Amino acid sequence: MKHIDVKEIVTSKKYVGSEVTVCGWVRTSRNSKSVAFVELNDGTSLKNIQIVVEKGDGDFKEPRVGMSLKVVGNVVEGRNNTVEINTVPENITVLGDCPTDYPLQKKGHSLEFLRSMPHLRSRTNTFNAVWRVRSVLAAALHRYFQNHNYVYINTPLITGSDCEGAGEMFQVTTNGYTTEFRNEEEYYANDFFGRKAGLSVSGQLEGEMAATAMGKIYTFGPSFRAENSNTPKHLAEFWHIEPEVAFAELDDVIEIAEDMLKYVIGQLLELCPDEIKFFDAHFEKGLKSRLEELISHDFGRVTYTEAIELLKNSGENFVYPVEWGCDLQTEHERYISEKVFKKAVFVTDYPKEIKSFYMKQNPDGKTVAAVDLLVPGVGEIIGGSEREADYDKLVSAMQERGMNLDLYSDYLDLRKFGSVPHGGFGLGFERLIMYTTGMANIRDVILYPRTVGSIR
Ligand code: 4AD
Repeated sequence: MKHIDVKEIVTSKKYVGSEVTVCGWVRTSRNSKSVAFVELNDGTSLKNIQIVVEKGDGDFKEPRVGMSLKVVGNVVEGRNNTVEINTVPENITVLGDCPTDYPLQKKGHSLEFLRSMPHLRSRTNTFNAVWRVRSVLAAALHRYFQNHNYVYINTPLITGSDCEGAGEMFQVTTNGYTTEFRNEEEYYANDFFGRKAGLSVSGQLEGEMAATAMGKIYTFGPSFRAENSNTPKHLAEFWHIEPEVAFAELDDVIEIAEDMLKYVIGQLLELCPDEIKFFDAHFEKGLKSRLEELISHDFGRVTYTEAIELLKNSGENFVYPVEWGCDLQTEHERYISEKVFKKAVFVTDYPKEIKSFYMKQNPDGKTVAAVDLLVPGVGEIIGGSEREADYDKLVSAMQERGMNLDLYSDYLDLRKFGSVPHGGFGLGFERLIMYTTGMANIRDVILYPRTVGSIR
């Protein structure tokens, strides 16, 4: 269907004086004796185009909210430096009617209410803006890595090894477990892959294989976690960006993470000014200046051990008690980034017991070269580390955790054949979107959220 994107028309004056065809859904409509005003949105911009219909003497049925229309008309200058389209009823084609029980008839629905209709909520300004931010940030992330000599790698989604070792894998099976199997081994041997398989929680292990050949790689795909965490920042299916870099130590990993975030957020401010203004006005006052500050200042840096001291001396009444060795909870992460540093902060060198087997063991024998990036409002958005490149140390860390070394023979081979210092991190894409839009619930930054107890 030949037509012009509304975005093209509303962002320049070049169509003024020409006849155009536009398509879209009616956002609002109001009628007076001789003219009707219809706000049409086709999704290409937060801005609607106003259609001014000269009604004449004929029968004119006012378009209803939600109807889809094709309109042919003349572009003219409107009030306040805008453009609009003048037309007559004969030049309006109704593509799809919309009955009065359309749930978005009225404006101002709560985000919670809109969550009950994921198939329609994209037609609101809020979700129009969120999806565009997602798209622009995704493209900026690819651009960042492509501009810095990284190779984009697609790692498998079905895997036989649990990268994080946290037992949060969804099982992939074509077999229901029945009592005819004598034990688990027999059950899995009869399953599709001939052994236990699951959905990947992270592409890191395979990413390491590629990085130790290609030097610098990144992945950008979904990860799956069967975490029983019904919180505003956990999804069972989230999008994960995982760069992995050979010849890199922890400091290099931290530098890349900071540089990457500053670049993509800078791009967002440049390419989505309307969306950022919208979120600033409706979701988080001061969002724009917070993002501008982020890209113009160094991120903070603190070790886990120092962070524990800060928390213990805070005088705060945390729900989860703080002791060296404990996992940092969201309340602790937010205290560190919001109250102490008041900006993004890298926390490094965590106790080895609370981190994954693959992290480089520090000389103190107690901590590993891990890093998490904590940001105000959200908490952790990045988790990464330098990897253990020493074969014997890696094997002993795996044995301490009771892991089956046979399942990780490829991974161990990397430490046998030309091992190099290397590292990388994982950025949770939805958490980045939350941070850059001020949206407080992760369910509102992905088209169809998958969370514990809920799928649609
Ligand atoms: O800290 P995580 O578990 O690290 C890894 O998966 C490493 N293998 C990454 C690497 O070094 N290549 O996860 C990384 C990030 C978290 O910081 C968070 O932003 C996001 O992934 N994340 C989630 N996002 C939404 N829902 C969940 N359930 C998430 N779990 C992790």
